[in-house]
Amino acid sequence: MDQIFKRQIRSLHIAGQPVEIVLRQLAKADIQDIRTIAKDSFPKVWSESEFDFFINHEHGLCLGAFRESQLLGYLLCLLIQGELDVITVAVEPQLRRLHIAETLLRAALEFEMVEQAFLEVESQNQAAISFYEKVGFKKYGIRKKYYEGQRDALVMKIEKGRPGF
Ligand SMILES: CC(C)(COP(=O)(O)OP(=O)(O)OC[C@H]1O[C@@H](n2cnc3c(N)ncnc32)[C@H](O)[C@@H]1OP(=O)(O)O)[C@@H](O)C(=O)NCCC(=O)NCCS
Repeated sequence: MDQIFKRQIRSLHIAGQPVEIVLRQLAKADIQDIRTIAKDSFPKVWSESEFDFFINHEHGLCLGAFRESQLLGYLLCLLIQGELDVITVAVEPQLRRLHIAETLLRAALEFEMVEQAFLEVESQNQAAISFYEKVGFKKYGIRKKYYEGQRDALVMKIEKGRPGF
């Protein structure tokens, strides 16, 4: 996985200037930077070992978007028997709406072994739902009180061959 994504470069504009970003597989050394973005993105931040679980998982497909050495956003997934499970994604707040998350998620979906992908998203997180819909995910079901036994999760799915995939 590292071999493929290390070379994948996309251009985007930050403050009107074209900037090259590189996608690569995340490593343990990136966890502090991941947690910095997570702190600005979620009410509860995972511990270092929780991030490490996915980053070092034998089926982990965990990508970071970098401008030189600066982490701009991250995407953690598990890829097991053709099924991509999107665990979490976040982008540095000041760099949102620049298609960084979209670039990360599309790169994961392009991985040749992926046949379908699922995710859970908090049903009130309209920004994330709009984001996943733009990439082509469709609403698939609801998990009641999935988050801390209180808030519902929307389950979303995309299959290879469908629009957006
Ligand atoms: C959700 C999140 C990852 C999106 O990251 P991003 O890099 O800003 O998203 P992108 O720029 O790639 O957006 C791609 C498309 O998604 C949709 N979208 C993204 N953010 C949106 C928002 N706030 N409102 C409406 N649509 C949105 C748009 O269609 C957008 O395309 P457009 O800008 O051309 O209209 C980011 O808002 C974030 O980090 N949120 C906090 C963490 C979180 O909620 N993660 C998801 C749950 S695990």
